[in-house]
Amino acid sequence: MSVPNPLAHSILDLIGGTPLLELHRCVAARGLQGRLLAKLELFNPAGSKKDRAALEIIKQAKAEGLLVDGQTVVELTSGNMGAGLAIVCRALGHPFVAVISQGNSVERIRQMKALGAEVVIVDQSPGSIPGQVSGADLALVEDRAKAVVAEHQAFRADQFVREANCLAHERTTGPEIWDQSGGEVDVFLDLVGTCGTYTGVARALRIKNQAIRTYLVEPAGAAVLAGLPVTQPRHKLQGAGYGRTNLALFDPALVTGYLQVTDSEAEEAARFLAAEEGILAGFSTGANLAAAWQLLAGPESGATIAFLACDSGLKYLSTDLFP
Ligand SMILES: Cc1ncc(COP(=O)(O)O)c(C=O)c1O
Repeated sequence: MSVPNPLAHSILDLIGGTPLLELHRCVAARGLQGRLLAKLELFNPAGSKKDRAALEIIKQAKAEGLLVDGQTVVELTSGNMGAGLAIVCRALGHPFVAVISQGNSVERIRQMKALGAEVVIVDQSPGSIPGQVSGADLALVEDRAKAVVAEHQAFRADQFVREANCLAHERTTGPEIWDQSGGEVDVFLDLVGTCGTYTGVARALRIKNQAIRTYLVEPAGAAVLAGLPVTQPRHKLQGAGYGRTNLALFDPALVTGYLQVTDSEAEEAARFLAAEEGILAGFSTGANLAAAWQLLAGPESGATIAFLACDSGLKYLSTDLFP
């Protein structure tokens, strides 16, 4: 056993520095060549990679005077950014209001409330399915978020546009993957929501080694960044794949290739990861593993592929992910 982390004095000191785990069974069970490295972001205090972005956005806003002492923070969230912001805002003395679609899992809503957030829940658009948040649903949440910001004269964290979202991963997640792997990464991939993680990690790894390939993952049937027609706007990959083409944090120059993953591929991968590797993670992690399997079975056979286990599977126990 390695020496445990030193005594911490703030929960904020425990954001980041997550383990990197090699997934031997995920490679062997499929008879593939290569290595898979999973960055276990479920070890963050609120259980997801978004804690890093929450901390960086708030720190930067305070440093720039955009957020003043005691001012309310508001964010449109699928739950993970909100849980991270709830922790960060409480620690730094800011009230926090999360605006979320009813389509997200109930665990996320309860977690944010438990962590001290006020949560505004927005009904889904007509015909929408619980557990599947569409672009139309998100537009309704956006309208409500704008109104809540005005009402509280609040600072909006605005994860879809703030560069600090990328910077969090460029300064921490990417370099951690590089160091923990001993510089042995050939490929990075990520299912994108805001694109903050993808852009930040891709930038950091390419600075270390320009030859590293980076693949952007989207839900099959809603792969708008790949330029494909939308045939399936609804999917189960919560927190990602919103079908938005106007993503401020997306940079096509950072994309080696585009991959698509179906709901059932993501579910199968998440279940395998839990049962065989002991990692209880969510839908987007399953999507990342499914995409990594595609690459090892195809153009990246033999490569070392790193990806994020984005959040904890405990956030999905009310869904059909782990029946
Ligand atoms: C579980 C999960 N997976 C993936 C993503 C997408 O990450 P990003 O917004 O950095 O693209 C999010 C974003 O909130 C998320 O919560």
